[in-house]
Amino acid sequence: MPTIVTKRYLNPIVTMMELDCPHIARKAKPGQFVMVRPDALGERIPLTIADYDPVRGTVTIMYQRLGVTTHKLDLLEAGDNILDVVGPLGNPTEVEGVQRAMVIGGGVGSAIAYPQAKALFAAGAQVDVIIGFRSKELVFMEDNFRRNCSNLYITTDDGTYGEQGYVNKKLEQLLQAGNQYDVVIAIGPVPMMRAVCQTTLPYQLKTIVSLNPIMVDGTGMCGCCRCKVDGQIKFACVDGPDFDGHKVDFDELMIRTAVYRTQEADATERHLCNLQRMADELKEKKGGAQ
Ligand SMILES: Cc1cc2nc3c(=O)[nH]c(=O)nc-3n(C[C@H](O)[C@H](O)[C@H](O)COP(=O)(O)OP(=O)(O)OC[C@H]3O[C@@H](n4cnc5c(N)ncnc54)[C@H](O)[C@@H]3O)c2cc1C
Ligand code: FES
Repeated sequence: MPTIVTKRYLNPIVTMMELDCPHIARKAKPGQFVMVRPDALGERIPLTIADYDPVRGTVTIMYQRLGVTTHKLDLLEAGDNILDVVGPLGNPTEVEGVQRAMVIGGGVGSAIAYPQAKALFAAGAQVDVIIGFRSKELVFMEDNFRRNCSNLYITTDDGTYGEQGYVNKKLEQLLQAGNQYDVVIAIGPVPMMRAVCQTTLPYQLKTIVSLNPIMVDGTGMCGCCRCKVDGQIKFACVDGPDFDGHKVDFDELMIRTAVYRTQEADATERHLCNLQRMADELKEKKGGAQ
């Protein structure tokens, strides 16, 4: 069972955990993810490997607290064990041969975009980055990106930090100003990735998106993460999660990711009432073990 080495809140809704997982850390590559199950009765959820250190044997995850599983995970503290963490899964992002890249992260997607930017920059590419958030208090990863890119642009929807507007508006400005890229990598909410693809299409600019359909096993067995790319059925966990954004059927993806929304909302409402009890039980268990 992997131990949580450090836990830190990055903003009011996103938590970072560094996990002791030497087997995963040794094999991890940018763009890959792990399936995490915090407790025996719960579900597995996919979380991107936001960073990894093969020498220390650690992998870092960053998650937005949304529903039951991310809240259960958040009950755990440094020193606790996570029931199971499986990975690395999915195909790594291709970094070879890229000389000029634009990496775009929206909200918690910035955590997922970070390893890509870092790997491209380390491979010697010029890497421009745009990260976008709703508001100033949600901005995170700024320093990490500054250390690992050539130019960093920050946008907020309400204009309280960086430039006001969506990430695709900034991208359009940069493209109109004549900036050229071999590839744009966009990771975030589905509407954001779609908007970026619409922006780059007239420029015939290769655009890679990281798809986030619901995943159950993460190994290509259940079919849950099915999505349509270039008219063909793909399983995001084994064929992706990165795909050519100009070929993705975003309408279908939106419908599929929302399919359990009622059940998720019900579960969150029911379980959040129990979270305090679960937190107390955990504390009691730890107290007993000391
Ligand atoms: C390859 C991949 C990498 C991801 N990486 C990250 C990451 O690094 N950080 C992060 O915060 N989030 C990431 N996500 C999304 C994350 O898995 C969901 O936010 C999480 O599963 C929510 O679970 P919940 O029980 O807390 O919320 P719920 O209330 O159950 O769900 C909230 C929303 O999360 C999505 N979701 C729920 N269950 C799953 C599931 N089993 N698989 C995929 N999506 C689900 C759905 O869109 C749902 O509407 C990733 C998703 C994928 C597919
Ligand atoms: S998550 Fe089961 S096939 Fe992809």
